[in-house]
Amino acid sequence: MPEPDGAATPATSTPAVSTAAATGTSPTAAQVRRAASRYATGVAIVTTVVDGVDHAMTANSFTTVSLDPLLALVCVERDSRFHEAVRAAGVWSVSFLAEGTEPVARWFATRGRPLAGQFDRVPTRRGANGCLLLAEALAGLELRTDRLVAAGDHDIVLGRITAVHEPADTADGAPAGPIVYFASRFRTLA
Ligand SMILES: Cc1cc2nc3c(=O)[nH]c(=O)nc-3n(C[C@H](O)[C@H](O)[C@H](O)COP(=O)(O)O)c2cc1C
Repeated sequence: MPEPDGAATPATSTPAVSTAAATGTSPTAAQVRRAASRYATGVAIVTTVVDGVDHAMTANSFTTVSLDPLLALVCVERDSRFHEAVRAAGVWSVSFLAEGTEPVARWFATRGRPLAGQFDRVPTRRGANGCLLLAEALAGLELRTDRLVAAGDHDIVLGRITAVHEPADTADGAPAGPIVYFASRFRTLA
């Protein structure tokens, strides 16, 4: 899963797709990571709660899956603390990050950060499923896990959407902008 780059990525003017695949050798994880990093995504914070302890993780693998029934998924690394927590909880929420909240994305992607007080710097509210939502998110969803699908070093956590926290548009009616994750860096639109 992605690690943000520290250094600036040089801008390229012409898209270039290498022909390495033609050699017939199996792709490496590094090649896949590099290629997949050119697929731009939003950035979300997934949350869950176990025995009164709140857990969170930055994730860009979130996607909606089905409107009938209402399903969405996130892929969670089996080695992460969030994996253990979301398995045990059976409920989770997702908050979509707005531009300007990159420090929040970095914080919840920091391996081994202390669980106690990890939400102190972020305004939150508790949803009906008991999980925290980020108060300043673009929108949020609450979910109940439908099933976990083993997928290599990750599990696909498929959830039924149980509540929606709808976007609040800005005064001029335009939606606030998102964080975009592209080429291992946090960016904004425009
Ligand atoms: C932009 C971005 C997106 C990420 N997306 C995911 C993801 O979809 N699934 C995942 O398991 N880890 C993802 N990660 C990594 C986790 O955020 C990170 O490994 C986790 O917070 C480690 O926490 P832990 O020490 O509590 O296990 C992502 C990291 C970044 C920077």
